[in-house]
Amino acid sequence: MTPTLRVGILGATGLAGQQVLAALEQHPWFTVVAVGASENSAGKSLGDALRDPSGASRWFADGRPQASLLSLPCLNDEQLLAQPLDLVFSAVSKEVAEVWEPRFAERVPVVSTASAFRYEADVPILIPGINDAHAEALHDQRRKRGWRGFIAPIPNCTTTGLAVSLKPLHEAFGVRTVMMTSLQAVSGAGRQGGVLALDVIDNVIPFIPGEEEKVERETKKILGHWDEPAPFTVSCTCTRVNVSDGHLEAVFVGTERRADTAAATAAMEGFGVDGLRGLPSAPDRLLRVDPDPFRPQPRRDRNAGDGMTVTVGRIRDEPALHGVKYVVLSHNTKLGAGKGAVLLAEWLTREAFIVGAA
Ligand SMILES: NC(=O)c1ccc[n+]([C@@H]2O[C@H](COP(=O)([O-])OP(=O)(O)OC[C@H]3O[C@@H](n4cnc5c(N)ncnc54)[C@H](OP(=O)(O)O)[C@@H]3O)[C@@H](O)[C@H]2O)c1
Repeated sequence: MTPTLRVGILGATGLAGQQVLAALEQHPWFTVVAVGASENSAGKSLGDALRDPSGASRWFADGRPQASLLSLPCLNDEQLLAQPLDLVFSAVSKEVAEVWEPRFAERVPVVSTASAFRYEADVPILIPGINDAHAEALHDQRRKRGWRGFIAPIPNCTTTGLAVSLKPLHEAFGVRTVMMTSLQAVSGAGRQGGVLALDVIDNVIPFIPGEEEKVERETKKILGHWDEPAPFTVSCTCTRVNVSDGHLEAVFVGTERRADTAAATAAMEGFGVDGLRGLPSAPDRLLRVDPDPFRPQPRRDRNAGDGMTVTVGRIRDEPALHGVKYVVLSHNTKLGAGKGAVLLAEWLTREAFIVGAA
């Protein structure tokens, strides 16, 4: 299969949009033909829009963007909508997504990093290899809304590592209760609503508005049957810490059937996702267990599998909830945003949910 689909990116200049651009560099199936951003950037080349007024670069992803991308004009929303596209990545705020994602979805599939539609009854929150069966709901969404395309969101970046690590435990033991405290990277807040460096240096911010509710709701939706959230309870405390990339989470799990350190480790180590093989952005392993008690660490482990592998460590018996506890790390702007969205688009293309124009 060698589809070459014409791709547009809404919010290309933001932290998540830049990760989409980086993940699409030299991509064998997808070609970026148009980029969009706010009215502040519209009319500039992408290269100019990626500089602040002082001339300093706003590029946050690894490496440098390709010269051919930097010369693309930044379009406003109406102009991007008018382009002939086969697929749109949306990496804008919830408020912008609420207005524009449906307008694009009338015409083309939209793969989104935004939360605007995640909780709608006909919108699955997808992680390839974790809840593939939920993608069938996209057919209903299309039919019901009369769209040629659809909206397919990935989860909140804090949900992703938690959901991936819970999946083998839920299959093996049945999850009953989850308690989680996150230590989230600064890049997770994006640039616009971002956290000021002066506020977070030498500090921990103990509240991220809306984050705990998102993680609690999304984890149950992803790990449940379609249309029926998983029956377990999820309770979180989400904090922002002085780390650039990589969300670390301390997770305590109560299980229906007896789980101990050895059995939980075996379940996680044995968790393979054959369905991802052959997808250009798929890691060799979606989940790995590190036996070193000093790991995972954001700086050392966030780029495992080029930022697409979730790392679990410190698996121990959990006496209070009767289950296991562990620490999990995932890359918030790669697996949790740009490259995770590209992986979902690859999976949807291989499964024929996305097809190019005839
Ligand atoms: N950062 C993460 O780790 C992460 C992870 C998962 C999901 N997300 C989600 O991804 C989305 C983007 O987050 P981010 O962190 O990338 O935010 P960000 O860095 O603040 O970027 C926002 C982007 O939206 C653009 N934009 C603003 N108003 C617009 C409009 N009216 N039309 C089109 N584009 C507009 C901005 O363009 P200008 O440059 O012109 O202002 C910029 O490209 C959010 O929904 C966020 O929740 C982020």
